[in-house]
Amino acid sequence: MKTLLVYYSYTGNTKIIADMIKEKVDCDVVELKPKTPFLEEDYQAIVDKYQSNESSKECVEIEDINIDLSDYEKVIIGTPVWWYTITPVLREFLKNNDLSQKQVYAFVTNAGWLGRTFKEIESYCDVKKELNVQFAEDYREHKCLTSENEINKFIDLIKE
Ligand SMILES: Cc1cc2nc3c(=O)[nH]c(=O)nc-3n(C[C@H](O)[C@H](O)[C@H](O)COP(=O)(O)O)c2cc1C
Repeated sequence: MKTLLVYYSYTGNTKIIADMIKEKVDCDVVELKPKTPFLEEDYQAIVDKYQSNESSKECVEIEDINIDLSDYEKVIIGTPVWWYTITPVLREFLKNNDLSQKQVYAFVTNAGWLGRTFKEIESYCDVKKELNVQFAEDYREHKCLTSENEINKFIDLIKE
């Protein structure tokens, strides 16, 4: 059973979790990239720009992923939380790729305000297991507050 890990990370926290998964699960990995990259030096401008992310459900163009989804039975998706829900980058992927026949595992990273992130993911596909990973409010610390044990439990379920 082939597994695909698809994630977006703006400032690196989600990538930390994706790397942990990649280390323990035999999977192909796709890092989603917006065609116009979000730059870290624009952090505050991006926070301001996406304030209406939850209501507008905006997407952004992403680079081609060159993956044939039909090769995979399991798909792991990961994203930071932007204004209480998924990023426009992951939204673009979910809108254009039908995961309804897949076993989907979803993880998200945030600073404590999860909002309706999983609800939006569930509006695109059924999800077998969800993991909410909290990081310190200052993203530059890259400090994970969720226990490694909890993350490993999620990873073990993927491997079942
Ligand atoms: C535009 C933007 C909006 C954010 N909105 C939220 C939010 O609604 N709730 C929350 O807990 N954290 C929010 N954050 C913090 C990030 O979710 C958190 O730092 C996450 O771990 C970053 O992941 P990344 O480093 O992979 O990009 C926001 C960050 C940005 C840049």
